Amino acid sequence: MNDLSHASTSSPLAREVERRRTFAIISHPDAGKTTLTEKLLLFGGAIQLAGQVKAKADRRNTRSDWMSIERERGISVVTSVMTFEYQGLVFNLLDTPGHEDFSEDTYRTLTAVDSAVMVIDAAKGIEARTRKLFEVCRLRDIPIVTFINKMDREGRDPFDLLDEIEKTLALSTVPMTWPLGRGRDFAGTYDLQAGHVRLLDRDTAPIPVTAGDSAALAAAVPSIDADTAAEEIALVREACGEFDLAAFREGHMTPVFFGSAIKNFGVGDLLKGLGDYAPPPRDQAAATRMVAATEDNLSAFVFKIQANMDPNHRDRIAFVRLCSGKLTRGMKVKQVRTGKSMSLNAPQFFFAQDRALAEEAYAGDVVGIPNHGALRIGDTLTEREDIAFLGVPSFAPEILRRVRLPDAMKAKKLRDALQDLAEEGVVQVFRPRDGSPALVGVVGALQLDVLQNRLEAEYGLEIRFEPSEFALARWISAPTKQELESFVTSHSFSIAEDLDGDPVFMAKSAFDLRYQGERSPAIVFADIKDVK
Ligand code: G4P
Repeated sequence: MNDLSHASTSSPLAREVERRRTFAIISHPDAGKTTLTEKLLLFGGAIQLAGQVKAKADRRNTRSDWMSIERERGISVVTSVMTFEYQGLVFNLLDTPGHEDFSEDTYRTLTAVDSAVMVIDAAKGIEARTRKLFEVCRLRDIPIVTFINKMDREGRDPFDLLDEIEKTLALSTVPMTWPLGRGRDFAGTYDLQAGHVRLLDRDTAPIPVTAGDSAALAAAVPSIDADTAAEEIALVREACGEFDLAAFREGHMTPVFFGSAIKNFGVGDLLKGLGDYAPPPRDQAAATRMVAATEDNLSAFVFKIQANMDPNHRDRIAFVRLCSGKLTRGMKVKQVRTGKSMSLNAPQFFFAQDRALAEEAYAGDVVGIPNHGALRIGDTLTEREDIAFLGVPSFAPEILRRVRLPDAMKAKKLRDALQDLAEEGVVQVFRPRDGSPALVGVVGALQLDVLQNRLEAEYGLEIRFEPSEFALARWISAPTKQELESFVTSHSFSIAEDLDGDPVFMAKSAFDLRYQGERSPAIVFADIKDVK
C-alpha cells in the first residue's frame, strides 16, 4: 500500500520529495481541529506542551498576536503552516482560518495541499462547513482522510456516521479502526488492518486479537460487550470492503479513523495513516504543461501573503508552496509575472511558534519569503522556465462598500494601504473607471472589520464604510478584444478595475446582472477568477 518502497533506488531529490506530506485539516468549527493540531504537533515533537496552538481567546504569544480583533473575537483569522517530522517523514500542516468569513483564504490554502484530514464530531456528523470545504477538495481531487473525533463522549452510531459520509459526500468509507464501547464506556479501538486492540488511557502496547475471536476481545477489553463488538467488526469488514489506495488517491474513498483528540487517542494511528497513504507532492498544472514534483528545477507559487506579522518589524511574508525541485537559501529565482529576478536570502520555515531560516527546502514544502510587496498571491517563481501555475482563485465579493475617509489629506496614504491589503488578499479593491472613490469587496462581513482595524492599527487611518450603489462584481471577458471594449465603453459607469487592472462589471442587483447578460451574450461574467 505504501509506495515509499522504491524510494531507496531513486535520486536524493526524489527521496526528499517522497517523504513529504503536505495537508490541511478541514472541519466545522468546534469539531476539534485545534485540539487535533496540537496533538499532531506533539507527536512530531514540534511543541513541548499541548495548549500552545490554541487558536482561541488565550492565544497570546503566537504570531497572530498582532491582530487584536482576533483576540477580541476569539477566532483564528490567520492561515499559517506548521512543519514537523515524524518517523522519517516531513509533515507540512497548513492551518486554515476557522471562521467562514475567511473562506477565501481557506480555499487558497487548499490549492497548496496534497491531502486533507476531515475532522468530524461524532455527535454531530457532517456539518455545513465541512461539506463546503469537502466540495472544494473534491473539485481539486484532494484525497481525504477522515478522523471521527470526540469518541469519548456520547455520539451517534458509527455505522450511521459512515452511512452519512457515503450518502451526503458520495465518498466510500473504509474504517481503519473501529471503536470499542461508546461514549463514557469508550475503551479503545480495534485496528482492522493490523488486527490489534489499542486501549484508551493506558500506555500499553497494542494487544493482538484475531478478528471474530470474541473471547480474546473480552479478555483484552473486559469493560465492553465483546460479542457485540466482534459482530460489529465482522460486519464492518464485510460491508466496507478493502482499502483501495488508488480509489483514495483519486478522491473516491476515505480511510476512517476513530479517536479522541482531547485524550490524544487515535492521533498516532491517524498520523501513521497519513504517512502510509496520503500522497507525496503531486504534479501541478501550469498554463503550458504539468510540472512533476521531482523535476530538478525549482518552481513554486504564492498562495498567501501576510503583512505585518511582527509589529516590531513591518515585514510582509509570502507563503510559497514549492512545486518542484529544491530551494537553497540565497538562490536566484525569476518572478514570472514581472520577469524580475529575486534572491531568496531569507526563506523561512514555520513551526508551532517559531520561524527558522530555511537553508534547504523541497517540493511539497511551504516557506515564507519576506518581501516588500514584490510578491502577490498567485505569482509563480521559477529557477529557469517561464511557467505559470494555475488555480489560485479569487472569488467575487458578496459585499461591496465605499471607503469614506474623513481626513481628505490622507487620500494617497489610503490608496497605498488599500493596495497593500488587497495584495495581501484581505479585501479586494475595485477602482471605478469613472474616477469615483474605490470600492472594497469582501466575501464575509468580518473581513470589513479586519480591514478597518488594520487600517487604523497599521496605517493610522480612520475610515468609515458607506453602502455602495453596486451589489455584485463580476470579471468580464469576451471572445474578441473589440467585443470587450465595446461593452466597457457602453457601460463605463459600471466598470471598475481590479488589482491586476482586469475589467470588472459592477451590477446594481442580480436582476441587473441577468439583464446585462441577456443583452450582451458575447460577454462572459465570471464569479471566480483564476489568478495566474
Ligand atoms: P475547533 O478548532 O475545531 O474549533 O475545535 P477545538 O479543538 O477548539 O475544540 C472545540 C471544543 O471541543 C473544545 O472544548 C475542545 O476541548 C473540545 N474537544 C476537542 N476534541 C475533543 C475530544 O476528543 N473529546 C471531547 N470530549 N472534547 C473535545 P472547550 O475547550 O470547552 O472549548 P469551547 O467548547 O468552550 O469552545
